[in-house]
Order: sequence, then structure tokens, then C-alpha cells
Amino acid sequence: MSNETRMARGETRPAAAAARRRRVFVKTYGCQMNVYDSDRMTDALAPDGFEAVTSPDEADLVILNTCHIREKAAEKVYSELGRLRKLKDARAAEGEEMMIGVAGCVAQAEGEEIARRAPVVDLVFGPQTYHRLPELVKQAATGATVVETEFEIEDKFRHLATPSPAGIRSRGVTAFLTVQEGCDKFCTFCVVPYTRGAEVSRPVEQIVAEARRLADEGVREVTLLGQNVNGWHGEGADGRAWGLGELLFRLAEIDGLDRLRYTTSHPRDMDDALIAAHRDLPQLMPYLHLPVQSGSDRILKAMNRKHTREEYFRLVDRIRAARPDLALSCDFIVGFPGESDADFRDTLDLVERVGFASAFTFKYSPRPGTPGALLEDQVAEEVMSERLAELQVLITRQQRAFNTAMVGRRCDVLLEKRGRNPGQVTGRSPWLQPVQIEAPETLIGEIVPVEITDTGTNSLFARRIAGQDEKTARNGRMGAA
Ligand code: SAH
Ligand code: SF4
Ligand code: F3S
Repeated sequence: MSNETRMARGETRPAAAAARRRRVFVKTYGCQMNVYDSDRMTDALAPDGFEAVTSPDEADLVILNTCHIREKAAEKVYSELGRLRKLKDARAAEGEEMMIGVAGCVAQAEGEEIARRAPVVDLVFGPQTYHRLPELVKQAATGATVVETEFEIEDKFRHLATPSPAGIRSRGVTAFLTVQEGCDKFCTFCVVPYTRGAEVSRPVEQIVAEARRLADEGVREVTLLGQNVNGWHGEGADGRAWGLGELLFRLAEIDGLDRLRYTTSHPRDMDDALIAAHRDLPQLMPYLHLPVQSGSDRILKAMNRKHTREEYFRLVDRIRAARPDLALSCDFIVGFPGESDADFRDTLDLVERVGFASAFTFKYSPRPGTPGALLEDQVAEEVMSERLAELQVLITRQQRAFNTAMVGRRCDVLLEKRGRNPGQVTGRSPWLQPVQIEAPETLIGEIVPVEITDTGTNSLFARRIAGQDEKTARNGRMGAA
């Protein structure tokens, strides 16, 4: 694989300007892994004196960390680049330079095409190159547009910038931690195996070191990330082969890390050790995002999900037997090619039978390069819209029922940030619901016992009560008030 930087265009610009470029703005699209990666980019640039800012107007370097998952997501990039072009022109009129970079999955999928379509771009770099960002920025500052998409993912993990103590503290008391990247599943609708490459797991010691660092700086909750996070595997200190379950047991030993979560998991990779972790680890929150995509066996097969609806039901039963208060969330695609009305009814039926605390629903979007895009029998837009609306009604009903059932109950809440109104603090329940509480800001970072008093559209309201906190009580267990 070539490590060589390709010069796509021959334009030059004064090298002296590079010294002045010291403020970076990263705009993040897409999934949590992009959020994590954006932070690693700013961490990687910090030693070169780059300070992260919150608006492109103040920035000398603007990076769009992009998502290719659906057509709409990918197209957003080009409209944003149109806006940035105006900003860059205005700066140029004042004799100032601004550098624009495109990172993430659109960068990986489209590469040089981006520079062709949007010549305003100085730098196109894929998800496996972020550790080399400082060098790529320097190259771009000397002249031609830099397009870099060809690196081994192992290199990324080996050289990934560690979060700085100040960076961790500025990001709050919850943090993401990537443990696995890439996907070997090749669902026929999905671009991820092409944009993120083959599944690679990060070594145990690196993960433990980063988790410890986070905990040392006051992080209380860590969400492990991976496109197929439960496909993570590694070698434990005991020399045995570990899966995500064993890793969670290890992370639960770290002092100060009181809450653990992981996302996104594939139903086929939920093994016994992981289910045991849900049963035995008080730190592992009782919430699981377990996408099924469709409730029809015919469509599951066409999607190459490699499991049936019955297998999904059985799996859900096993996990719920291990952790009875577990809340499930899901992703659904409506209108996959060939989806009949009967197939869609099977999806509704699956939702009725499982009962979700929340779910994301998407209209199928044919993606270039995926087998699904070549299938005949694409479903009409109006049909997709109708199905999406019907599915959303059902899911909203389930979500409301789940939230309403909380009223009058007690749970622990991790206070995360200032609330909407003065005197309010926002936190999360063990089931990931946002909770508004009257509390002083000095309690941010604490896990406090509360009683849920009411529900709004998207969040719960609660009052603090006296009692044990999560460290002493069994974490997250729901109790009747
Ligand atoms: N790794 C995750 C998926 C990441 S993409 C997993 O396997 O669950 C997040 C969600 O986007 C997917 O679960 C799917 O519901 C949706 N999605 C992916 N490709 C899509 C497409 N071509 N059209 C519509 N939705 C899609
Ligand atoms: Fe995409 Fe399927 Fe892999 Fe998830 S499991 S990232 S949906 S190919
Ligand atoms: Fe999007 Fe890439 Fe994540 S396509 S969902 S940013 S892995």
C-alpha cells in the first residue's frame, strides 16, 4: 500500500502563511466514531500550536469530518464546502489564508473526486491517516492539494494521539473510546466496509491505558466504540483470547470508571461472555443498541445480515434473562429493494414483539459501490415515506411508554452538564435517557440518586433523593419508589 502523498493539483501558495495557521475548527458529521476521531485530530494538532475553536469564522484550518452512510449525509458536505468557499474568498480579500480539509468516510470513498468537484479543498484525508495530520497539513501549506486515503488501520491505532488531560477535562465527564474499527459483515446496503476497511481491534493495553487516563481526569462514563464493537477481540494479560465481554470485565476494574457502555453491536457477535458481562457487571449500563434493520427473513437474507428474525428474538430473550431491566434500541431501514408490504408488516410485528426504548429509522438510500444499489425492484419514494411514518408512530409510542413507566421510580443519574434553565443540571439515566434535575452545577460529575417525577418529549424530569449512590448500590437497578 502506498504511503506516498499524491499531488492532485499543481497550485502553489506561500509557505510563510503556514506559521500563522493556529486555530482549527472541526465539524463532525455521522456516527460517534467520527466524534472520537475529530477529538483525536485536534489532539494530534495541539503540539503544533493549534487551538480548537467553535466556529469556522475564527479558524485558519477548517476540517469537515464527513459521513457517507446515506446520500443526504454525503451531499451535506458539498453544500458546506460552498459556504466555506465564500468565507475563504472573503479572507483572501483581506490577505488572510484559510485551509480547508475533508476527512472521514466521504474523503475515503471519493478521494480526489472531492478536490475536483470542490477545488476550494486543500486536503482530503481518510480515517486511517489522522495520526499523520500535522505532516499532511504542512504538506498542504507548501502547495498542491493533498489527497491521502491509503493507510493501514493498524498504523492509526499504533500512533493515535492520546487525549491530553486538558482536552479530556474540557470534554466533560463522559467519553468515547474507540476499541475496534472497520467491518467484515458486508451488509448489502452499507458503505462502511469500504470506507472503514476490514475489522481491526485495538490492543488491550492501549485501551486500558486510555481508559485509565480518562478516569484519572474525572471521566465517569466511557462508551466503547466500534462499527462492530462486539466483534472486538484481543489477547488478555492471561494470554487467553478475549472478546468484548472479557474486555469489559477488565475495564470495570479501573477505579473511577463507574459506567460502561458500548456501541454498535451486531446480533451475530453477542457471545456468552458479553451476555455474562450484562448479568454480572454493575458498571455495564442496562442499555443495548442492537440493530436488526428488518423483521422480514426474506429481507434480512437479501441484506446479508446472516440471521433470522427468530434468532434475533432468541438472542433478545437470552440478554433479557441475564439483565431483566435492559432497554433495547435499534436501527431499521424501510424500503430495501424488493421489500413488500408483507415484509414491512413483519418489521412492525418484530417491533411489537420486542418492544424498544428507542430506535432510529431510515429510508433505504442506494449507495454507490454496494450490491444493494444494483438490485432491481427499488421501492418507490412515496411507499418508503408511508412505511417510515408508520414505523415511527409505533416506535414513538413504545418510547413514550418506556419513559412514562419511569415516573415514580428511582434510579441513579450521572450529572453531565448545565441544564436548559438556570439552576438545572442535565444528566443521563442508566437507560441513556436525558434527565433534568434541579441541582447546583458543582454536582456535575456526580452520580446521584433521583426519583423520576415527569416525562417530556425527549427527556425525564427528576428530583434528588437521599440514598446510596451507584458506587454502593447495584448500579442502575430500577426500584419502585
Ligand atoms: N455498524 C452499525 C451500522 C452503522 S450505520 C451496525 O452494523 O449496526 C448506522 C445505521 O445506518 C445502520 O444500522 C442502518 O440502519 C443505517 N444505514 C446504513 N446504510 C444505509 C443505507 N444505505 N440506507 C439507509 N440506511 C442505512
Ligand atoms: Fe454496515 Fe452491516 Fe457492517 Fe453495520 S454490520 S457497519 S450495517 S456492513
Ligand atoms: Fe458515517 Fe462513516 Fe460513521 S459512513 S456512520 S461516519 S463509519
